Amino acid sequence: MRTQVAIIGAGPSGLLLSQLLYRAGIDCVVLEHRSPDYVLSRIRAGVLEQGLTGMLEEAGVADRMHREGLPHDGFTIAVGETRLRIDLKDLTGGKTVMVYGQTEVTKDLMDAHASRDAKIIYQADDVIPHDFDGNSPKVTYLKDGQRHEILCDFICGCDGYHGISRKSVPEGALTEYEKVYPFGWLGILSYAKPVDHELIYANHDTGFALASMRSHTLSRYYIQVPTGTDVNAWSDEMIWDELKIRLGAEAAERMETGPSIEKSIAPLRSYVAEPLRFGRLMLAGDAGHIVPPTGAKGLNLAASDIHYLSGALIEHYAEKSDAGIDHYSQRALARIWKAERFSWWMTTLLHQFPELGAFNARIQQADMDYLASSRAAQVSLAENYVGLPY
Ligand code: FAD
Ligand code: DHB
Repeated sequence: MRTQVAIIGAGPSGLLLSQLLYRAGIDCVVLEHRSPDYVLSRIRAGVLEQGLTGMLEEAGVADRMHREGLPHDGFTIAVGETRLRIDLKDLTGGKTVMVYGQTEVTKDLMDAHASRDAKIIYQADDVIPHDFDGNSPKVTYLKDGQRHEILCDFICGCDGYHGISRKSVPEGALTEYEKVYPFGWLGILSYAKPVDHELIYANHDTGFALASMRSHTLSRYYIQVPTGTDVNAWSDEMIWDELKIRLGAEAAERMETGPSIEKSIAPLRSYVAEPLRFGRLMLAGDAGHIVPPTGAKGLNLAASDIHYLSGALIEHYAEKSDAGIDHYSQRALARIWKAERFSWWMTTLLHQFPELGAFNARIQQADMDYLASSRAAQVSLAENYVGLPY
């Protein structure tokens, strides 16, 4: 088989890229090693920046998001007894975020692909990118026990942190930057009315908590747990009790509880690989970088990579210019590092780090006091949270 662009991974990065390229008349094939149901079963991000919602519009997959998504004008930070509302709309001159789950974004993209009979090969095993240092790259894979080959012009590695694309880069060509946090987030999804109409990020003596949602009847909550925690050690009841402590008495009184329909632990890590382009292989999304989830940047950052990458590929085919491809890594990384900084900062502000000692705890308190007392600090938080410009 021959195509113009072979995309490895059918998560949000791969599907958004494929949809944008299709609309520009560029042929592509997506290879995914899981099944569609498995991809949809992964509960992940929930807050979309306007940059991403704009791209979903551009891709022609935004109708359901506009019908069912929840625009949010602000959120609350709760530290001890202090409650600070961050009025995103006021602080940014009118910008907001959209609460709409990654699962729904992925489903809308899958539906758009299905309606045009797009080439997505699910359950493709042993996917390998080859010869991307020359002009004739190819991808091989196993399907139903048979090996297949796709000849292409470019390979886009959209296969997440554990994918094969980054691992295929020759040793020494990649510089990696990493920070691993000594805790993870235990998340639950439950058919319970959200405790507030906006999100609450809390830093309590016993750890971080986040009250989020997917709809007016479906709540998503997270609590900080030490690395190595067994998810089965936390019953639903224990999680609800801990949420009530960490989110404070007022929220506890209002909190509706119920059985969890999903429960999992995500480790927290900051990671960047540089560069993001190796000849005719480009990395995008989690394949190239990871942020801790505190600033809700992971999915949004994947989308900004796809903005630069789709633009570069469209420029290559439509204008016969490789300027966008040559600059892809540099442009994407400039925005990635700012999101890395912001996610690290929000993580540092809102989690318990007992191992860092009393000095750090005081700095954390001073950071929160400064935020509460300074509009300039709040503007900085708000402009990063709604998303820096592309
Ligand atoms: P992915 O979503 O990882 O998609 C990659 C795809 O490639 C997958 O479908 C995978 O099956 C496929 N693949 C992998 N290897 C291969 C291979 N060898 N061959 C073919 N296909 C392959 N972000 C937030 O903002 N908020 C959150 O609350 C949040 N929670 C998260 C929880 C977890 C457990 C994880 C892992 C991430 C979370 N994130 C969160 C981050 C956010 O979900 C990611 O940034 C986003 O999914 C990135 O999209 P992606 O398409 O780049 O990668
Ligand atoms: C959600 C996840 C986040 O990381 C975040 O900062 C806000 C919301 C969520 O899953 O709803």
